[in-house]
Amino acid sequence: MATDTAVITGAGSGIGAALARELAERGFSVALIGRRRDALERTWASLPEGATGFILPGDIAIRDDRERLIRKLGECLEPIGARLRYLVHNAGVGEPATGLEDMDPDDLAQALAVNVTAPFALTQGLLPLLRAAYPSRVLMVGAGIADRPQPGTGSYGISKKALARLFEQMKMEFAHSAKSEPDVALFQPGLVDTPGIRAHLKAARRCGLPHVDYLDQALAGGHCRLPKAVAAAMAEALINMSGRYFAGAILRP
Ligand SMILES: NC(=O)c1ccc[n+]([C@@H]2O[C@H](COP(=O)([O-])OP(=O)(O)OC[C@H]3O[C@@H](n4cnc5c(N)ncnc54)[C@H](OP(=O)(O)O)[C@@H]3O)[C@@H](O)[C@H]2O)c1
Repeated sequence: MATDTAVITGAGSGIGAALARELAERGFSVALIGRRRDALERTWASLPEGATGFILPGDIAIRDDRERLIRKLGECLEPIGARLRYLVHNAGVGEPATGLEDMDPDDLAQALAVNVTAPFALTQGLLPLLRAAYPSRVLMVGAGIADRPQPGTGSYGISKKALARLFEQMKMEFAHSAKSEPDVALFQPGLVDTPGIRAHLKAARRCGLPHVDYLDQALAGGHCRLPKAVAAAMAEALINMSGRYFAGAILRP
């Protein structure tokens, strides 16, 4: 029987690492993408015994790396008859700034490359594998900030808004296609205690941004979700949600 495989970007930490564990526990093979090989190896080592899959270090902001990752995925999956059932665009970046005057255009470009261009290009490049695994699913990790602008969060917020628009575009284009297209979902995890949000908090504090107090209290008081719970909700969205498309939050209490 063909092994169902989930490709997860940003699988070296936080939500992506937790999702890899969750899906491996549910019997899926996992392909882990991220820039830091050591972080991917840590995630790999944390998978349950008997887990299958592989790590694929690479920078999804770089076109050559994306093309190599797409080729590699084909080379790794096809010979073993594995199917690309799930593609999860989880990697996300976006540096805070003290305000628009201080916002670095290069940070915006990097956020757009990781949060928007890469999900588009990886989906495009992997479409033959996703179609072959029909019914398959592409899941994008969005953020509430896309619709709630906050001072100093331009790069991140603008790029997540664009990601939501990419989701709408794919949803519409696939609905008009005669081919066996993947479902597309947009998942907003809410506030989750991860290395990413903690790094953001530090940087936002340096910039003196007003949402620092709220984040501080939420993290110190444990009033945010844990990656494991979010990963369980994401896995449910990937595997069990009915309907061709799903958008919005699917969170366990
Ligand atoms: N935590 C929250 O409260 C929260 C809220 C809303 C949305 N989100 C979203 O959830 C997703 C996961 O975030 P997280 O909180 O788990 O953060 P995280 O711990 O920082 O994880 C992000 C991962 O993305 C990878 N990454 C970054 N740039 C990359 C690149 N150019 N190529 C390949 N991989 C790259 C990083 O690994 P490398 O550095 O090794 O590449 C890292 O493992 C993000 O899309 C984030 O926007 C999080």
